[in-house]
Amino acid sequence: MTKKLYIKTYGCQMNVYDSERMAEVMAPEGYALVETPEAADVVVLNTCHIREKAAEKVYSDIGRLKVLRDERLRGERAGGDLVLAVGGCVGQAEGAEIMQRAPAVDMVFGPQTYHRLPKMVIAARDARALHGKARVIDTEFPAEEKFDHLPSPRGSGGPAAFLTIQEGCDKFCTFCVVPYTRGAEFSRPVEKIVAEAEKLAAVGVVELTLLGQNVNAYHGVGLDGGDWSLARLMARLGEVPGIARIRYTTSHPRDMGDDLIAAHGELAACMPYLHLPVQSGSDRVLAAMNRGHTAESYRDIIARLRALRPDLAVSSDFIVGFPGETDDDFEATMQLIRDVGFSQAYSFKYSPRPGTPASDMADQVPEEVKDARLQALQTLLFEQQKAFNVASVGQVMAVLLERVGRFEGQLIGRSPYMQAVNVDCGAAAADVIGRIAMVEILSGEPHSLKGRLATDQAA
Ligand code: 5AD
Ligand code: SF4
Repeated sequence: MTKKLYIKTYGCQMNVYDSERMAEVMAPEGYALVETPEAADVVVLNTCHIREKAAEKVYSDIGRLKVLRDERLRGERAGGDLVLAVGGCVGQAEGAEIMQRAPAVDMVFGPQTYHRLPKMVIAARDARALHGKARVIDTEFPAEEKFDHLPSPRGSGGPAAFLTIQEGCDKFCTFCVVPYTRGAEFSRPVEKIVAEAEKLAAVGVVELTLLGQNVNAYHGVGLDGGDWSLARLMARLGEVPGIARIRYTTSHPRDMGDDLIAAHGELAACMPYLHLPVQSGSDRVLAAMNRGHTAESYRDIIARLRALRPDLAVSSDFIVGFPGETDDDFEATMQLIRDVGFSQAYSFKYSPRPGTPASDMADQVPEEVKDARLQALQTLLFEQQKAFNVASVGQVMAVLLERVGRFEGQLIGRSPYMQAVNVDCGAAAADVIGRIAMVEILSGEPHSLKGRLATDQAA
């Protein structure tokens, strides 16, 4: 390969998956991935639009890259012409604005058109040669087309891989840009997903994380021609030789169907960890968010899951300072956290997004109130996370050993509960990497566990 591609990924795991696919679609064109923009011929920013901060970061990165691009165009720096592309959700949402605000950007594309990346790069280069300027914009919504045109995944090398099974969202939570940037809900057919899983298993993948903005709304065409649910899909994927673990993210409480809840108790490959965003513990706020569930129905789902899987680790997303949120509403969120008990969580200050209903709502919450609430909420969640990790000490658990650690003989892996585990494997490290091993947990830090290979691997 002679040409160099640099991709910077912002935001969610769907973008991580998309960036891997972009690299794969460019490989047959002779592009190899490099670690820095300085070393690249094509730079892709695969962006996130979910909160204002994420979107603004893109513009500051473009500013820095413009300097590099201009120096190279003027011949002040080696490397020659550099194509600068903005992909992902900012590209989708603000395509025309980017072109206007950032003339250094040569190409803009969205999450649904990156299979056409090689063509766009050629078009950009041709336009530059002809007009001295290269401006290509491709933000259509041909959802089905994309997957049909992507090469089969090579896997990024490790034993854990992402697999996108569903995209888009029809739920229209009033704070969220996803239905606008990723479009309507679309489920890939089971056959295609199974084929992708088999290819990943063939290159050593042991753990699949099924991805979708609304992954448990999955309803793809099944192997029998009917609609299959996520639970049915997971049962089939659990039969793929080599696939020992299945996770899914991100899910919605409204789509926690009976069969999916049952799968957590019945399906051996289904890991005892669930990321189930609740956003708020106040029914008033949940209604204003158009979430379609209550705090009680959320508690009930968790209770049903834990009845089947008492060790289930639960993660969530929270938004503080949604328009109209009072101290009482916030306290209801804190109470829900105390009641449920989370092993980890993500929490955010409400960020008004252009075009979403909540951005026009009255009673926007002052920034200092949002700050104080976020701090209180994160303190509580952090305590729970620490307690969860400390409670793991002394247990022997199955850890998927994903990659080498910082020290000789150390491997880094994931527990069934999604905890990062640093494992002292000594001389056995080379033999066990990429595998699931029994690990005795020796200590629990807030963000990770430490352990050593257990003597009895059959446990
Ligand atoms: N402001 C703050 N957080 C948001 N999220 C989505 N939209 C916004 C917004 N406008 C959060 C939600 C969602 C997660 C991916 O990002 O908690 O679950
Ligand atoms: Fe956004 Fe709500 Fe859809 Fe999740 S369910 S992607 S938060 S609109």
